[in-house]
Amino acid sequence: MTFADTAKPPGPVTLLPPDLENLSGFEAALAAGWSPDPRRAGDETYVRGELQRLRQDRANFLDDLIPDGRRHAGSGSPLTTRLFWIWDGEFCGSISLRFQAGTEELPPEVSGHVGYSVVPWKQRNGHATNALRLLLALAAKEGLDRLVILCDEDNEASRRVIERNDGELFMRGPHPSDRPDQIKLYFWLRPGVVV
Ligand SMILES: CC(C)(COP(=O)(O)OP(=O)(O)OC[C@H]1O[C@@H](n2cnc3c(N)ncnc32)[C@H](O)[C@@H]1OP(=O)(O)O)[C@@H](O)C(=O)NCCC(=O)NCCS
Repeated sequence: MTFADTAKPPGPVTLLPPDLENLSGFEAALAAGWSPDPRRAGDETYVRGELQRLRQDRANFLDDLIPDGRRHAGSGSPLTTRLFWIWDGEFCGSISLRFQAGTEELPPEVSGHVGYSVVPWKQRNGHATNALRLLLALAAKEGLDRLVILCDEDNEASRRVIERNDGELFMRGPHPSDRPDQIKLYFWLRPGVVV
């Protein structure tokens, strides 16, 4: 797939739980070189490895992506992860919500309650902004009052996505999940109803 192949006008954005039926969109994105992990963007070995794993055993790959939504992080309460595909009639990227029931805290290696990535050929259509808005509605349904979201200081696009969703900057600094010299912006987000 090339970026030019995808000139189809985008439909409204929805969030889809990953399943075997829509896994082929994710597969095509990997095959085009997209990394689902923004910190590994451009890491061809990682992306090729993921693609190989997917093609070897699709069901198992999917299980690994969504282990059952929960895993234990150290001695704290289990970390719940809700992963969704960003979808406009085609695969556009992914967004996840991570939280521990009954607390705002997260394990130190988890960089905020929300992570997202849009494939390059679907960017600048408002997809990440809309996906985050939809995710905030889901977070409200989970009973979460306030989320922390981080972006690299120089990630203008991600910063705009957060600001468009009324993110409130409260801190600047590194995060244990990344290099000590990578300065991040920390924002509060208020889960709410989609308008
Ligand atoms: C950050 C990212 C998810 C944005 O996705 P997107 O769907 O293109 O975002 P949107 O279309 O909703 O754009 C939101 C705003 O960012 C702006 N924007 C988008 N890409 C931009 C870019 N490369 N440079 C500057 N601004 C950009 C848009 O113009 C828009 O601004 P506006 O609100 O003033 O109109 C996408 O660039 C991406 O996946 N990047 C790599 C992974 C990543 O950085 N993830 C976030 C980790 S915190």
